[in-house]
Amino acid sequence: MILNEASIAEIKEKMVRYPHRKSAVLPAITVAYQQVGHLNDELYREISGIIDVPAGEIAEAATFYTLFPKKPVGKYLIQVCHNISCALLGADSLIGYLEEKLGIKKGETTSDNLFTLISVECLGSCSSAPMMQINDRYYENLTREKVDAILEDLRKQA
Ligand code: FES
Repeated sequence: MILNEASIAEIKEKMVRYPHRKSAVLPAITVAYQQVGHLNDELYREISGIIDVPAGEIAEAATFYTLFPKKPVGKYLIQVCHNISCALLGADSLIGYLEEKLGIKKGETTSDNLFTLISVECLGSCSSAPMMQINDRYYENLTREKVDAILEDLRKQA
């Protein structure tokens, strides 16, 4: 069992808020992600056993959201938007700069386990492109200088 008692209790508590069990899938996935830091098949089965929704349906919902990594990631998951507005305003260059600064390629994690870098579809903040999300926070209107400051700040917090 991967989920601890607190997570199981939280999922059960969230479940009762919804008239349909399937509505509890995303809240349950979120609880599992917050405990473990990523999702996997075993967690889908455990969640299935709690909310009585087939594990396959839970996996389908989870794979739709890049916010939920499907393998272990660094302390900071950097998701750079590469969709149209961000692409027009330099997302590729930004990703290249992050790869250079972090010494990794897209999809990789730094050797100190601090940063994982991925690129994702539109994050709904097109008017402030180029942008990225790191864990739960948006960083917008990015420049190389801003990226430097953000990474430095996160390293200090780590
Ligand atoms: S295109 Fe990047 S946030 Fe929408």
